[in-house]
Amino acid sequence: MKILIVGSGGREHALAWRLKQSPRVTQIMAAPGNPGIAELADCVPVAADNIEGLVDLARLERPNLVIVGPEVALVHGLADRLREIDIPVFGPSARAAMLEGSKGFSKDFMARYNIPTARYRRFNSEQATEAKAYLETFDSPPYVLKADGLAAGKGVVIAETRAEAEAEIDAMLGGKFGNASSSMVIEEFMHGEEASFFALCDGETAVPLAGAQDHKRVGDGDTGPNTGGMGAYSPAPILDEVMQQRVMDEIVTPTIAGMKKDGRPYRGVLFVGLMIDDRHGPRVIEYNVRFGDPECQVIMTRLKEDPLPQLLACATGGLAGCKRLERFSDPAVTVVMASAGYPGEPKKGGVIRGLDKADDVEGVTIFHAGTARTGDDIIANGGRVLNVTATGKTLKEAVGRAYRAVDLIDWTDGFCRRDIGWRALARDV
Ligand code: AMP
Ligand code: GLY
Repeated sequence: MKILIVGSGGREHALAWRLKQSPRVTQIMAAPGNPGIAELADCVPVAADNIEGLVDLARLERPNLVIVGPEVALVHGLADRLREIDIPVFGPSARAAMLEGSKGFSKDFMARYNIPTARYRRFNSEQATEAKAYLETFDSPPYVLKADGLAAGKGVVIAETRAEAEAEIDAMLGGKFGNASSSMVIEEFMHGEEASFFALCDGETAVPLAGAQDHKRVGDGDTGPNTGGMGAYSPAPILDEVMQQRVMDEIVTPTIAGMKKDGRPYRGVLFVGLMIDDRHGPRVIEYNVRFGDPECQVIMTRLKEDPLPQLLACATGGLAGCKRLERFSDPAVTVVMASAGYPGEPKKGGVIRGLDKADDVEGVTIFHAGTARTGDDIIANGGRVLNVTATGKTLKEAVGRAYRAVDLIDWTDGFCRRDIGWRALARDV
């Protein structure tokens, strides 16, 4: 079977790495891929947001399955275009991808189907005064302000003061993110612990896949600005079997049923960003219509069973009756190495040495994200650059192995958080 993976991050490297182990896979292609993926797949220089280019590539290569990593192409209809030419695709239609593509849409959807989430209201560019008045309905800061559309991960602002919130309302509705913030959502700040939950869906049925926890802030102790994610581990102790069943019953199953009822059947992986506390149980922070990055890296590492049949079933139907994919009992962790400056403008071009030695540490696999190759050298070419991933009998052992490998990597501009896994490790003792 020939598989085409769309994307160029650590998430896509992990997908390629896991699928390479499938006895049914004969060839993997990636568009555009990265130097790590190039060790496993044929990389084609078509960007992950170039819909026409990707459709042309699929028409030419006729892959048996296209797996779409990032959300942008999905929101703009890549899956629809591929289905029109009878190419199976793992990923939702544009109408279903609105769960991630429009915060207003997803909030209204959750309200309609009684799916637990933060109290909210939507505002358009004519309603700045109403938006500011709505702030009064919250007892105290912080205020949560969200641009409606995709804003490259920067569309959520948690304002600590009323003045900051009012200025942000003016900025967003004034076009700070262009069309993406011509309307916005203001919602209640939820307290609790965040976790990521993933389920595979074929439009009718959802099968749980895994839970994980990410580390959003750039600095140790969860300080500094938000990032795409600085590290992750799976399983997440807060998502024990009982909690996962609640997430399936209270969130995932009604989401899939509601989307089907609305004529927007959801196919692919549903990534639910959760806030969990004792009083409210699990509530939705946001939906994503793709795998998390770096959560995917630890989920793929832990899969014992070949995921290909279920990924194909998501694309073509037939998930009903499927059991959850078997996982190894050993936990997995990934530490993101980023380039100085990230999440602002990262330094590019620095040479990275020692990758082979690091990869040799027991239990360690290194996934590439923003790397490039020049001659024999691997250089940094983005913000998040490497994902040093490890398994171990315990999370503590996995974390120890990952940092041992990190320390063997010789890269002047590279940095990482030193406390990945702290929340779960603190529970262990
Ligand atoms: P996003 O960029 O959509 O992933 O959101 C960024 C982060 O903002 C989330 O990971 C949460 O930490 C935080 N966040 C978003 N909405 C809320 C909320 N209603 N209450 C508390 N934190 C939130
Ligand atoms: N790691 C969070 C995300 O992929 O959105």
